[in-house]
Amino acid sequence: MTGPVGASIPHDSARLHVSGEALYIDDLPEPRGLLHAAMGLSSEAHARILSLDLTAVRAAPGVLTVITAEDVPGINDIGPIFPGDPIFAERITTYHGQVLFAVAARTRAEARAATALARVTYDPLPPVLTLDEALAREDARVAPSRLMKRGEPEAAIARSPQRLRGTLYVGGQDHFYLEGQIAVAHPGEQGDMLIQSSTQNPSELQHLVAHALHVPDHSVTCETRRMGGGFGGKESQAAIPAAIAALLAAKTGRAVKCRMDRDDDMIITGKRHPFRIDYDVGFDDQGVIGGIHFMLAGDCGHSADLSTGVNDRAMMHADNCYFLENVSILSHRCRTNTTSHTAFRGFGGPQGIMAIEHVLDEIARHVKRDPLIIRQRNFYGSTTRNVTPYGMVVEDNIIAELVDQLVRTSDYLARRTAIAAFNMDSRWIKRGIALVPVKFGISFTAIHLNQAGALIQLYTDGSVLLNHGGTEMGQGLFIKVAQVVAEEFGITVDRVRVTATSTAKVPNTSPTAASAGTDLNAKAAQAAAHAIKQRLAHVAAEAFGVPATAVIFANGEVIAGRHRLPFAEITKLARMQRVSLSATGFYATPKIHFDAETQTGRPFYYFAYGAAVAEVEVDGLTGEYRQRRVDILHDCGKSLNPAIDLGQIEGGFVQGAGWLTSEELFWDAKGRLRTHAPSTYKIPAIGDLAPVFRARIYEAGRNRENAIFRSKAVGEPPLNLGISVFHAIKDAVAAFGDAGLSPHLDAPATPERVLLAIEHLRAAGRAAPIDAKAAE
Ligand code: MTE
Ligand code: MOS
Repeated sequence: MTGPVGASIPHDSARLHVSGEALYIDDLPEPRGLLHAAMGLSSEAHARILSLDLTAVRAAPGVLTVITAEDVPGINDIGPIFPGDPIFAERITTYHGQVLFAVAARTRAEARAATALARVTYDPLPPVLTLDEALAREDARVAPSRLMKRGEPEAAIARSPQRLRGTLYVGGQDHFYLEGQIAVAHPGEQGDMLIQSSTQNPSELQHLVAHALHVPDHSVTCETRRMGGGFGGKESQAAIPAAIAALLAAKTGRAVKCRMDRDDDMIITGKRHPFRIDYDVGFDDQGVIGGIHFMLAGDCGHSADLSTGVNDRAMMHADNCYFLENVSILSHRCRTNTTSHTAFRGFGGPQGIMAIEHVLDEIARHVKRDPLIIRQRNFYGSTTRNVTPYGMVVEDNIIAELVDQLVRTSDYLARRTAIAAFNMDSRWIKRGIALVPVKFGISFTAIHLNQAGALIQLYTDGSVLLNHGGTEMGQGLFIKVAQVVAEEFGITVDRVRVTATSTAKVPNTSPTAASAGTDLNAKAAQAAAHAIKQRLAHVAAEAFGVPATAVIFANGEVIAGRHRLPFAEITKLARMQRVSLSATGFYATPKIHFDAETQTGRPFYYFAYGAAVAEVEVDGLTGEYRQRRVDILHDCGKSLNPAIDLGQIEGGFVQGAGWLTSEELFWDAKGRLRTHAPSTYKIPAIGDLAPVFRARIYEAGRNRENAIFRSKAVGEPPLNLGISVFHAIKDAVAAFGDAGLSPHLDAPATPERVLLAIEHLRAAGRAAPIDAKAAE
C-alpha cells in the first residue's frame, strides 16, 4: 500500500497548461467597464523633474484619468523592507524607466498611446551607472556593508606557500517569466479592493496596496491562482502594477487591469544582482586553501528592495561545499542608477557559489591539477573541518558520497582522458568538462519569514478544499501539498482541490520563496488535516466501539480492526454529530536563528546538495560553443514527488546555464537597458540543451531533520548546477593555451567573451594566432 506521498503524480495543472485552459490573470473574464492602465516612464537615469505636463495625456482619446504621486491618498512607496521604491517618482528620478505617472483608458492601446503625449522637463544629475563607479564612492550604498570573519585570514594567506588574487564579474539575469507582471483591481463597497495579481507574495502586496490607498489591511484582498513563472521577480515587484491598478480603480470606481508590456516589464522591474568578486587566497602545494578574503560587491540598483537579504545569502554561500578555516567576506551593497535588482532563484546564493568555484578553478590551473581533485580536497569534512564561516555546523554533509557517485555514473575520469586526447588532435575545436558541486542553505535568512498557515475545509461528501499561504508559479507546490493532505486523510489526491491563494483565507503569510514553499505550507496543511483527523477518529471510535487510537485512515476508508467505513461516510456522520469539519494549521521552522551583528548562527534548517558534470565544445574561430553532455545528481531528501522534483532540477539547471552563457544585460552610457526583448536578450532554447542530458535524483537522499516526510526543498538549489557549464566552457578555452595558463572569463560567457578569452590566451602563450585561412 503506497500513499500519494512519494508518487510521481502529474502537476495538477499540467493538462490545463498544455491545452491553454489554465487561467492566468489576463485570461479571466473581464468585468463590465474594465479600464486598462499604462505607465509613463522616466527617460533619464538620474534627474530632477522640473515639470510634468500631462495636459495632452488627459485629453487623449479614451483616457478617463491620469494619476501621479500627488494622487496617492496613502503612502507613495512600495519598498518591501525599507522605503525607497516610490510608486510614482516625485521630484527626482533615480533610474531610466522609473514610473512617473499612470493612465487609465478604455483600451490598452489608448492608454499606451496617451502616455507618449507627456511633456517632461528634467535637470540632469550625474548618474552612477556601473558597479565599479558605485564601489569607488562610499555614498553609493543602499545599506551598510557587512563583514563576516572567522580565524586569521590575513596571517593565513601570508604564510601560505602559494597565493592568487583576482577579480571576476558576474552579470545579472532577467526573470523572463512567460506571463509578465499583471494585476486587476476590483473596487467594492466601503473602500474594499480585490486584487487579482500574479504575485509570489499576496500578503505583502495586500499590505502595500492598503498603505497606498490609506485603508486598513482588511479592506484589501489579494488573490493569486497561479503565475506563469515568478522566479523571484514577483516576490516584491508584483506590487508595482498592483498598486497602480488599485489607485486607478479607487479613483475611477471601475475595475482596472494593469498588464505590463514586455519591453516595459523588462525596463521597469529589477533583475538578478550583477556582482563583482575580488579575492585574495593563500593555499598549499596540494591546492588546499589556508586563508581567503572575498570582497563581494552587489549591484542593487537604485533602491534597497530585497538587496540586504540577497547580499547576505551571497556571503553565506561563498563557502559552497568547502571548509574555509580562515576567511573574511566583505559585502558591499552598491547603489547604481538602474532598476532595483531583486530576488532571483537562488537569491544571491549563486553569486556566492560563483565566487568560490572561480577561486578553486584558478587554484587548480595554477597547480596544474584537475579542478575536480582540488574541489574534493577542500570539501567540508563530516566530523572535523565542518563549521561554516558563519559558525553553523554542517551536520548533514553528503557531498563527498554524492560526488563520488556522479564521478562514476558520468564516467568523468575516462571522459577527461578522452577530451585531453581529442584536444591534442583538434586545433580549432576544443572540448572541456567540469564537475561543480552544490550545497544550498534552506530557510529564509530573515528568520521571521519561516512560518506558514493553512486552512482545510472538508465537505460532507468527503472532498477536501485546501488553502495555504503558498503560491503556485509552475513549481508544483499545490500538488505536493495536496499529496501530503491526501496522505494524512488516507484518500486519493483527486479528492483534494487546492484553491487560489487568498489573503482572505490564510492571513499574514510569507512570500513563496527561498524554496521553502513546500517545507512550510505542507507542514501547516498537515497540521490542519491532523486536527480534523483527530476529530473524525473520535467519531469513528464511537461508531465502532473502539478506542480512537485504534482508528486508521487508509485507502479512502476509516478502519479499526474488522470495522471499516468509507471516508465520505465518516464526514457525513461527523456533520450529523455537529463536529467541525474545517481547521487551520500553522507551522514555524524549528532550530533556526541568526545574529546579524556577529554574522553567526544557524540560519538554515538544513542543506540541499547536488552536483553536475557538463561537457562542452568551443569553436576557437567564433567563440561559439555547445553543450555535449550533462549529468546531474541532485539530493531531494526523500522526494515527495520525483516527477515534479526532476522538473525543478532540469529547469533550474537550464536557467542557471542561461544566466552564465547567453543571457546578457546591457545598459548604455545613459543608463538605458538596451536588452529588453527576446530579440536582444537570449534565454536558452531547446537547441541549447545537451543532446545527452541525464538528470537523476540522489536515491540515498533523506532529510535528517524532521522536514515534511523527510523531503528537501528543490526550487532553487539546482539552478547552481548550471555553473558547471560555465566552468566546462572555461576548461575548453584553457585548452587553447599552454598548461598552467588560466583564461580570464567573466560571466556571462557569451561567444564574444569566449573569443576574447581565447585571443588573450593565444597572445599570452605560444599558440598560433587566429588565422581563418589556416583553418581551411
Ligand atoms: N519553477 C517554476 N516552474 N516557476 C517558477 O517561477 N521559481 C523558483 C522555483 N522554481 C519557479 C520555479 C523560485 S525563485 C523559488 S524560490 C521556488 O520555485 C519557489 O517555490 P517553492 O518554495 O515551492 O519551491
Ligand atoms: Mo525565489 S528567488 O526565493 O523567489
